[in-house]
Amino acid sequence: MYSEKVMDHFQNPRNVGEIENASGVGTVGNAKCGDIMKIYIQVEDGILKDVKFKTFGCAAAIATSSMATELIIGKTVEEALDLTNKAVAEALDGLPPVKMHCSVLAEEGIKAAIEDYMAKQGK
Ligand code: FES
Repeated sequence: MYSEKVMDHFQNPRNVGEIENASGVGTVGNAKCGDIMKIYIQVEDGILKDVKFKTFGCAAAIATSSMATELIIGKTVEEALDLTNKAVAEALDGLPPVKMHCSVLAEEGIKAAIEDYMAKQGK
């Protein structure tokens, strides 16, 4: 049911953890399943130097958070804002249709962390 990439990122998630004194933190949840994702970003000169996550959720939520962090590290804040859940799912070679909603958490978590960062910058 899951692609090899999903299984890999679920079993060996990248960038798990927290960032102390993060530039921005975003917490989002899915009301239906109760899963929660927390994203930490470290921004320097408009670039995402580091991104970490903690996800209390299903396999698809963990795999998409892991892949999403990999996709935005080294990108500009603007590029990270453009990341869609579809792009994350595609990078994982797809998700079962019933699991697409899980990938929305990753997109929303990143947006929430960037909004927090911008608010702290007074933007
Ligand atoms: Fe909740 Fe996947 S079932 S995020």
